[in-house]
Amino acid sequence: MRVVSAILEDFRNLSVRVDLACGINVFVGRNGQGKTNFLEALFVACMGRSFRPGRLADLVRFSAPGATVELGVEERGIVTPVRVSIAGSQRRHRVGGRDNCSLSEVAQMIRAVFFGPDDLDLVKGSPSGRRSFLDEAIRVHHPPYERLLMGYQRLLRDRNQLLRDFGSGRHPPEELLASYEGELARWGGQIVSHRSRYLRDYSPMAVELVARHTGGQLTLELAHECTAGPCGGAIEVGDAQEMLLGRLRDLRGEDIRSGSTTVGPHLDDLRLDVNGRAARLFASQGEQRQVAVSMKLAQLALWRQKFGVTPLLLLDDVLSELDSTRIRLLLDAIAGWQVQAVLTTTAPPDVVWKDDDACFRVKEGGICRVDFDKVADEA
Ligand SMILES: Nc1ncnc2c1ncn2[C@@H]1O[C@H](COP(=O)(O)OP(=O)(O)O)[C@@H](O)[C@H]1O
Ligand SMILES: [Mg+2]
Repeated sequence: MRVVSAILEDFRNLSVRVDLACGINVFVGRNGQGKTNFLEALFVACMGRSFRPGRLADLVRFSAPGATVELGVEERGIVTPVRVSIAGSQRRHRVGGRDNCSLSEVAQMIRAVFFGPDDLDLVKGSPSGRRSFLDEAIRVHHPPYERLLMGYQRLLRDRNQLLRDFGSGRHPPEELLASYEGELARWGGQIVSHRSRYLRDYSPMAVELVARHTGGQLTLELAHECTAGPCGGAIEVGDAQEMLLGRLRDLRGEDIRSGSTTVGPHLDDLRLDVNGRAARLFASQGEQRQVAVSMKLAQLALWRQKFGVTPLLLLDDVLSELDSTRIRLLLDAIAGWQVQAVLTTTAPPDVVWKDDDACFRVKEGGICRVDFDKVADEA
């Protein structure tokens, strides 16, 4: 599966037609020209939402009535149009001749993975970003996981309210708190177990890719840090539930004092060490970026293994802090997987490109194909 063409009408500042190559497509331009907008258009057509915050209506060119993006998706020689139209807050997908397609129908045709500068937070930022990274990946492999997360959040809010009721001197029956703890442990234990089982498959892949993309210079270690207790390896649901229930009961007094639940998957983390030290604190910005990109690619590799479909890889401005050796290693890995990729940069890296790759210049909302060796002069 690959995207052979993209036709955009009034998508932000872009109304263009672009014919994509099957390897790596590099979009070069100064800031504010429309590079990220182009990736966003591809992403919205595949996933039905943007990777940027905001409303659907923001995607439509200022003062235009609507926007459309139509991708030509080729599979075994047959090109199927996948088209998304946005008007106001409405989005509609058409796949082939079928109108009003659901996102899961679109997903059977094509998916996209996006990686942008904010994804650096995966390594550098707070635990919540790492939890979302895990949860998002698990959701792809196991859609009902979403309901589990939502149910858990609801129970958590309820228990916290109850804790505050106790703290403020009102005395709801203690059994009520106990029954919330039972439910929280039941739902939370499943989340902990899902995450640990995902990590069992994911971690070796991430470790391998970080090593490979850095020519063995960086060694990544991942550890699932559970507030409920030790959970190295893949923890079974029942064990996770029991562990969590025990801690919730032990901490009840403390939680009443603080008015919040201080143990559970909503506070867990994924510890990332590089060469034996916490990556968040000790790795350089370039190394953090490298680890984050490789971790994202590991997600994609697992995805590919499981579903046999390769998502379109969208990389926004991620090469800027990597040296040319690492850029080449990364691009080789992408080429080796036969993943179609679209990436943006302000200056094209000085590496040798392949016949399957293509270069485009983005300027004031116009996009045109240029030779790799000419783009620097023309940008
Ligand atoms: N809805 C919109 N309609 C028209 N132009 C838009 C819209 N949203 C953003 N833009 C313009 O898009 C440009 C930014 O494009 P972007 O793709 O983020 O740039 P870059 O090339 O730096 O990645 C800005 O000039 C902004 O004004
Ligand atoms: Mg940009």
